[in-house]
Amino acid sequence: MACDVLVVGSANADLVVPAERRPGPGETVLGGDTVVSPGGKGANTAVAAARLGAEVALLGAVGEDSYGDLLLDSLRDAGVRTDLVRRVARPTGIAYITVTPDGENSILVSPGANTALEPSVVDSALDGAKVVVASMEIPLATVERTVAVAAEQGVCSLLNLSPVAAVSPATLAALDVLLVNEHEAAWLLGDGVPPERLLDLGPSAAVVTLGARGALVITGDGTTEVAAPKVTPVDTTGAGDGFTGALAAAIAEGKHLETAARRAAQVAAISVTRPGAQPSYPTAAEVAGS
Ligand code: RIB
Ligand code: NA
Repeated sequence: MACDVLVVGSANADLVVPAERRPGPGETVLGGDTVVSPGGKGANTAVAAARLGAEVALLGAVGEDSYGDLLLDSLRDAGVRTDLVRRVARPTGIAYITVTPDGENSILVSPGANTALEPSVVDSALDGAKVVVASMEIPLATVERTVAVAAEQGVCSLLNLSPVAAVSPATLAALDVLLVNEHEAAWLLGDGVPPERLLDLGPSAAVVTLGARGALVITGDGTTEVAAPKVTPVDTTGAGDGFTGALAAAIAEGKHLETAARRAAQVAAISVTRPGAQPSYPTAAEVAGS
């Protein structure tokens, strides 16, 4: 079955604790009540794209536990196809998230079932997709296979390199769009190196998210800065995934990369004004009205 956007990535239950500050080594801090919310960079990306009206499938893995049910329910509620989400004999991935009053988060991920997503699952999955998005938190070999198969089949590929890891030069060279934040760009290039140099690594285009400042769109034609709407953040968790999903949905619609990045920056800005990752992504109507 064809879809506009195929996401290959993780699904996690997010256990979110509000706290005045995050604990240091050896320290105990008391926080507020835990909120359990559907997350994971891959599932977040898929839900964000689907809320905007794209036809989306997630290729992923969850456990045979209640957190697996939570994730499948959230994906289905958003209209994401789940027939490529396998249930495996490992606990569903869990992210332990601290959110401070400034809306910033810190995240510890226990990948669990996500580690069961082997490279071979990708081979027959891309059929008919317009855009394939890979994100991290799954085995690196699966990310690399996804990009390689997309290149072989002429499908547009987008890699959200978060959390940043040493992907092979061949993977970067085969990519259509590399999506990173400023820290990930510095990790790849070194501090102080202009972001335009990301194209030297081989992708056809790069998008660098700048948080509240928006994003840079870098192509062979030059660099464009895209501004983000000014908002007061309550929870920035999953903002990058929302950006990724919106970017993929717009590319699948045939939008120019700069237009796609503008829409993605709007989606990310709306998402940080609401708690949680997946529950915070807007519909197309909400974005148009923002
Ligand atoms: O990017 C945000 C996501 O990172 C959270 O939903 C959490 O599950 C971790 O994967
Ligand atoms: Na949010």
